[in-house]
Amino acid sequence: MSTATLDAPTTDAAILPFTVTFIIRRFDPEVDDEPRWQDFDVEMYSTDRVLDALHKIKWEQDGTLTFRRSCAHGICGSDAMRINGRNRLACKTLIKDLDISKPIYVEAIKGLPLEKDLIVDMEPFFASYREVQPFLIANSTPEPGKERVQSIAKREIFDDTTKCILCAACTSSCPVFWTDGQYFGPAAIVNAHRFIFDSRDDAANVRLDILNDKEGVWRCRTTFNCTEACPRGIEVTKAIAEVKQAIMRGKP
Ligand code: SF4
Ligand code: FES
Repeated sequence: MSTATLDAPTTDAAILPFTVTFIIRRFDPEVDDEPRWQDFDVEMYSTDRVLDALHKIKWEQDGTLTFRRSCAHGICGSDAMRINGRNRLACKTLIKDLDISKPIYVEAIKGLPLEKDLIVDMEPFFASYREVQPFLIANSTPEPGKERVQSIAKREIFDDTTKCILCAACTSSCPVFWTDGQYFGPAAIVNAHRFIFDSRDDAANVRLDILNDKEGVWRCRTTFNCTEACPRGIEVTKAIAEVKQAIMRGKP
């Protein structure tokens, strides 16, 4: 394709901008007693994402708008938020996939302490994650220069749960977690699953004991909110069910 073609102005209606109204739940702990909703009208293109809208608001309208983001490409997991009542990554939510005939509501994820605007304190979430020992624990050492060998079939068993990016969309969409912040939550169980079913790991029973707690897997009510929320398409509820089975029957 020539440069002239690339630079040529176009009148294609599909790429004309349009105005979208965002209603964002704001909270500044130094000023506000309670969160408040604030409207912003933003010029957007259908190929823009909600993260682009937040950037435009911050850079052009209100520099105090506060949110987390890093990679902007669905990998770092830092921009999970509630968009029109559903947990999603702002960087993976295209404007064209939302109903822009109505305002788009954006707020922080639920169940974790609100710090400012769209930012919550993630420490309780990461505390549960750390508690399940999300790292390989092996009793043996491979021969010098050798790897820990694993068959394709055994790797496949926990493939789904390796995809977690720790965005907290699942845990913060879970009604049990909303009412009981002590519950480990789906993300911690997903990351325990990733090692419980790893044939190279020797600490499955330790993790199963940890999750056989009153705040462990038995609190799950199988509402599937977590599976619906996961931006990585992980079958979170299925992973939780597999951990429950492993507690009852032992690691397969
Ligand atoms: S399981 Fe999915 S929704 Fe939950 S933290 Fe991991 S990537 Fe996010
Ligand atoms: S900014 Fe990294 S996942 Fe969205």
